[in-house]
Amino acid sequence: MSELRDLRGQVALVTGASSGIGAAIAEALALRGVRVTLAARRVDRLDALAQRLRQADGAGETQVVACDVREEAQVREAVSQTLERWGALDILVANAGFGGRGPLVDGDPARWKAMLDTNVFGLLLTLKYGARPMLEAGRGHVVVMSSIAGVVTTAGGAAYCGSKAAASAIADALRMEVGPQGVAVTAIEPGVVISEFQAVAEYPPDILENMLHGATPLQPADIARVVVQVCEQPEHATVGELIIRPRGQARP
Ligand SMILES: NC(=O)c1ccc[n+]([C@@H]2O[C@H](COP(=O)([O-])OP(=O)(O)OC[C@H]3O[C@@H](n4cnc5c(N)ncnc54)[C@H](OP(=O)(O)O)[C@@H]3O)[C@@H](O)[C@H]2O)c1
Repeated sequence: MSELRDLRGQVALVTGASSGIGAAIAEALALRGVRVTLAARRVDRLDALAQRLRQADGAGETQVVACDVREEAQVREAVSQTLERWGALDILVANAGFGGRGPLVDGDPARWKAMLDTNVFGLLLTLKYGARPMLEAGRGHVVVMSSIAGVVTTAGGAAYCGSKAAASAIADALRMEVGPQGVAVTAIEPGVVISEFQAVAEYPPDILENMLHGATPLQPADIARVVVQVCEQPEHATVGELIIRPRGQARP
C-alpha cells in the first residue's frame, strides 16, 4: 500500500484565509510544515493568524496578501507574491465565498451579483492564475471549496446553490484539463459548518435547526482535516470530489 505524502516544505495559497474554513485549512497546512500565503480582504485577521502560526513549533512560514478574489489584478498578485517568495505553488485552496438564502422573487440583485462575482468569477480567476504555475511545474493540487449546496438544490437557494453547482462543475472541468498534465483537482462539498458563514448569509436561527435536527454541526477543523488528507494522497490517486456532512444532516 502507498504511504501518505509528507507535505513539509510544500507551498500553498489559501483564499478566504481570514475566517472559518479557510483559516482552519491554512493553519492545518502550516502546522504540517507547509509554507502558506494567507489571502483575503481583512488583512488584520490574516496578520493575527500569521502571528499565531509564527509561534507554533515546526509550522511553515506564512505571508499575508490582501486579496479580493473579484479583482483580477489582486488575484494575479497573490499568486505572483507566492512564487516570488518561495519559488513554487504546490497547493491552491480556492475557498473564498459566501452564502445567502431566500425566495428568488424577493432576491436582491446587488447581493446576487456580489455572490456570483465572488463564488464563481473569483473562483475562475483564482484557478486561472493559480493553476498556470502548476501546469508549468507538471505537478500540484487544486482544492475548490464548493458545498453540498452545489450537489443538492433546495428552495431558497437559487443564487447560492447555483453558484456552488457552478463551482463543482468548474472544478470538474479543470480536473479534466489539468489532470493529464500532473495537476490534481478536488472539489470539497461540506454540509453545515459553523463559522462566520451563517452571520454573513444572514440566516435566521431556525434554518440550522431545520438542516441539523439536533445533529452536531461540523467545525472548520473538520474540513481542514479532510483537505490535508486529500493533499496527502499519493500522486497517482486524486480524490475528485468529497462530500462531508454532519452525520445527522439528512438534507441538503
Ligand atoms: N459554513 C458552511 O456551512 C459551508 C458549507 C459548505 C461550503 N462552505 C463554503 O466554504 C467557504 C468558506 O466559508 P466559511 O464557512 O469559512 O465562511 P466564513 O467564516 O464567512 O469565511 C469566508 C471567507 O471568505 C473570504 N471572502 C469572502 N469574500 C471574499 C472576497 N471577495 N475576496 C476574498 N476573500 C473573500 C472571507 O474573507 P474576507 O471577508 O476577509 O475577505 C473569509 O475569509 C465558502 O466558499 C463557503 O461557501 C461553507
